Amino acid sequence: MFHNDDRDWWRHATIYQVYPRSFADANGDGVGDLAGIRAKLGYLHSLGINAIWFSPWYPSPMADAGYDVADYRDIDPSFGTLAEAEALIAEAHELNIRTIVDIVPNHCSDAHAWFQRALAEGPGSPARDLFWFRAGRGEHGELPPNDWTSVFNGPAWTRVADGEWYLHLFAPEQPDLNWENPLVRAEFTDILRFWFDRGVDGIRIDSAAMCVKDPDLADFDPAAPPTPHPFVDRDEIHDIYRSWRVVADAYETPRALIGEVWLADIDRFAQYLRPDEMHAAFNFDFLGCPWDAKALRHCVDATLASHAGVGAPSTWVLCNHDVTRTVTRYGRAETGFEHGLRQARHLLPTDEALGLRRARAAALLTLALPGSVYVYQGEELGLPDVERLPDETRQDPIYHRSGGVDPGRDGCRVPLPWSAEGTSHGFSPAGAAPAWLPQPDWSHLTVAAQQADPASMLRLYQTALAIRGSEAGLGDGPMTWLDTRDDVLAFTRPGDFTCLVNLSADPVDLPAHTEVLLSSIALDGGRLPSDAAVWLRTP
Ligand code: GLC
Repeated sequence: MFHNDDRDWWRHATIYQVYPRSFADANGDGVGDLAGIRAKLGYLHSLGINAIWFSPWYPSPMADAGYDVADYRDIDPSFGTLAEAEALIAEAHELNIRTIVDIVPNHCSDAHAWFQRALAEGPGSPARDLFWFRAGRGEHGELPPNDWTSVFNGPAWTRVADGEWYLHLFAPEQPDLNWENPLVRAEFTDILRFWFDRGVDGIRIDSAAMCVKDPDLADFDPAAPPTPHPFVDRDEIHDIYRSWRVVADAYETPRALIGEVWLADIDRFAQYLRPDEMHAAFNFDFLGCPWDAKALRHCVDATLASHAGVGAPSTWVLCNHDVTRTVTRYGRAETGFEHGLRQARHLLPTDEALGLRRARAAALLTLALPGSVYVYQGEELGLPDVERLPDETRQDPIYHRSGGVDPGRDGCRVPLPWSAEGTSHGFSPAGAAPAWLPQPDWSHLTVAAQQADPASMLRLYQTALAIRGSEAGLGDGPMTWLDTRDDVLAFTRPGDFTCLVNLSADPVDLPAHTEVLLSSIALDGGRLPSDAAVWLRTP
């Protein structure tokens, strides 16, 4: 049965990100669906995760893979129905798995009823004020109202038939909502309650630092933006999350707010985690960090210090649906991640065996650090990024809006391989349509193949998560670094638990211990090999 007693689950949970299009396809159309997820809940339960975050599952024209939401209170027909979502939430709870839905407040879809009404009712109408409609510049208004560019390339403005322009910080199909308008605020409060009332335990807040804009809409140089920035991390934004926290806290079991906050300034980042704002936010510094002991140690220390200042738990994230998978990037000469470098690093030589070895070690590192951990579907299978997708199958607007220059994010969104049976390595039933993004030969990486192999990535995750679940000292709480050479990370957690990660080129000795709980690869004569991690019981 579902336990309501763990009110602080978000402080220590392992949260699994389901990307519904690519998780499991039950109806055979080549696209994942809710029936597919329900059929695989047993898999997630035996993996040992504590919560599922669902990337958007709402009705959407899928101009940005569902991050263009046409109706925040329903389910896209390709995924299923609202009744199925309710059943899924309830079934997850029966397995003691919490659920988190993705809320997209910065923009909706151009197919959303509000935007359609704004188009129909024309300039000056109240419906237009729900968005950022403006007259253009130039003699005939033929130029955009300012020089802002979209995160997905090109101008951040699109002109409509009557001559006005509207703002979209992402794709043109994603018009930005005007958070100055009280109707927008009221609508989202209501959307939050809609899902909380259906039992979801938390929300992931998309592009959370971008909702508030400087109403002056002035030009600026993106290489030297003014402070405050015209649309990133403006002080007024915190009022929104404070009001959401009141909504979340009104439930008998408080609901968690988890922010997607990409900010270089860690102190500004921590402001979102003050006690009356979000509960947690993704740690993108860690995600982007190269496979380098000094850099990782620095990142861990900075993370813990900034979070301690506001009493929030740290989060540890290596992958998601927007970034290059670790097996691919850890196998390259440059192991860090930056959005701006995706294109430059695309198809650079990758040693996937090395990448996998490091990803195994990174899994034990993250699962031992204090706080909560996010696992993106397929990470537990050690999937690489699929860099060589046929161009005609690519769907990411980043690819299309860059004229094919930036490969975009499809490579980390390829459907999961489940088994030798069925279509697309068991992603779909037998006789189904091909998967919406083609898989390479992943027969050795299927869930079934890995279940049968004690040395697989999947079995490593299962064992590590089982240990994490039974060790009282893991999850949120203190950690202490041990004195080691610079290219080795070693720390203790309460309960005589030690994690040692060897990022050096040579095997290293283990500290005195009474038991080896788990190692990412076999020990070498009692020493920890290079690019490996071990969990120990230490005296
Ligand atoms: C977030 C999502 C990303 C999406 C963007 C616009 O960064 O993670 O997938 O494209 O917001 O909604």
